[in-house]
Amino acid sequence: MSQHSMDGKHLTRRSFARSLAFAGATAWATHAEKGWAKAKPLPSTPSSPDEKFWETVREQFFMPPELGVMNAANLCPALVPVVEAQERLTRDLDRNPSFPNRVKLGEGKESTRKLLAEFLGVTADEIVLTRNTSEGNNLVSSGVDLKAGDEVLLFSDNHPSNLEAWKSKSRRFGFTVRVIEQTNPHPGESYYLEAVTKQLTEKTRMLGFTHLTSTVGDLMPARELCKLAREKGVLSLVDGAQSLGLIEVNLAEMQPDFYTSSAHKWPCGPKEVGVLYINKTAQSRIWPGIVSAFPGATGISKSFESFGQRDEPAIMAFGEALKFQMKIGRKAIEARSRELTQALIQGLQRIDGVQLWTSTDPKRSHSVVSFRPGSLDIPKLAAALYEKDRLAGAPRLGTDRGGLRFSPHYYNLHSEVDRALAAISRYIAHGV
Ligand SMILES: Cc1ncc(COP(=O)(O)O)c(C=O)c1O
Repeated sequence: MSQHSMDGKHLTRRSFARSLAFAGATAWATHAEKGWAKAKPLPSTPSSPDEKFWETVREQFFMPPELGVMNAANLCPALVPVVEAQERLTRDLDRNPSFPNRVKLGEGKESTRKLLAEFLGVTADEIVLTRNTSEGNNLVSSGVDLKAGDEVLLFSDNHPSNLEAWKSKSRRFGFTVRVIEQTNPHPGESYYLEAVTKQLTEKTRMLGFTHLTSTVGDLMPARELCKLAREKGVLSLVDGAQSLGLIEVNLAEMQPDFYTSSAHKWPCGPKEVGVLYINKTAQSRIWPGIVSAFPGATGISKSFESFGQRDEPAIMAFGEALKFQMKIGRKAIEARSRELTQALIQGLQRIDGVQLWTSTDPKRSHSVVSFRPGSLDIPKLAAALYEKDRLAGAPRLGTDRGGLRFSPHYYNLHSEVDRALAAISRYIAHGV
């Protein structure tokens, strides 16, 4: 797929921004000024959290109350405590960048590694702190020793960093890429298990898939797919960009060989920090893609994570994001975003002219909802939603399940879902 058509799935950030250029830089300035208030203390999560509780949680973000951003699959807002930690640590570092003052930053990096290990149910010896999911996926596709005659099995809805990257490397190293087409709507777990079983050959060395697809939110049977791969001696790479921080991911249960994710999506952490999990059993099967200075202190990070100078304040701020999630409760977060998603899906089903691409079955999808809103012009609709209704989603251009994508997370409120449904219904009935 060319870069052009890759971008065609979504409106590029630049063209979207351009289409909204007149949408009010001044409005942003006012919101930003209002938004830099300190977060109030977070109350403990009640056994059945109500809307009032989630309104308090929303105050832990800078987003102004009138702006409903349902675009978590693309970029989540960082939490106030995350931004504050990163800022405080950065100021401290730049006030005194001496080695003695930086000892605590090295220790902080290792604390984030431990937190991530706890969060994912694995050991710190298996955690590499990367820049993002793209980097993690590419470290795997460049680092696993594959050659002509070997096969890599992927799905068509894998992100470019886990599809186009493999195709690019296949041209260099001579291995073959086979792609299983993703079917719409999600046909059920057994469909994909059978499809993979059929496609696995004696030559297959790697199975790469996305835990939760960014296109339509299909939830893949990760544990079963990894098991299938393991039984055939095939390595598994699970792209978790859309699952970490949303679903209670437990890698000890899933047992992938590699799992990748980013802090800036559902964990609501900083930008340019990510994670690559490398199962102990797969550590001898991968070469480091970058060899420099300042490695991690434990396990695979000692040989695989010598990435040179890092932004330790950002890495430590990722730890703050994880602590925040643990404080609210990961089950509560998963349930909250599911509840908002179901409200959105059910509302969309009631609107004449809406074609849902996302499975309505909560076992098959989670928090990423794509749909075609009748015959409305998508860039115009997205601009109207943003300017008039103060709502932001992701436009999906092109012929492949085109339309709009809303991806609500725990910081969204039912009132925002209701506003989105009312606006879509109004625009379909009366035009943009
Ligand atoms: C499934 C999936 N994988 C990878 C990525 C790339 O994430 P990042 O830009 O953080 O590297 C994305 C981004 O949307 C994604 O949805």
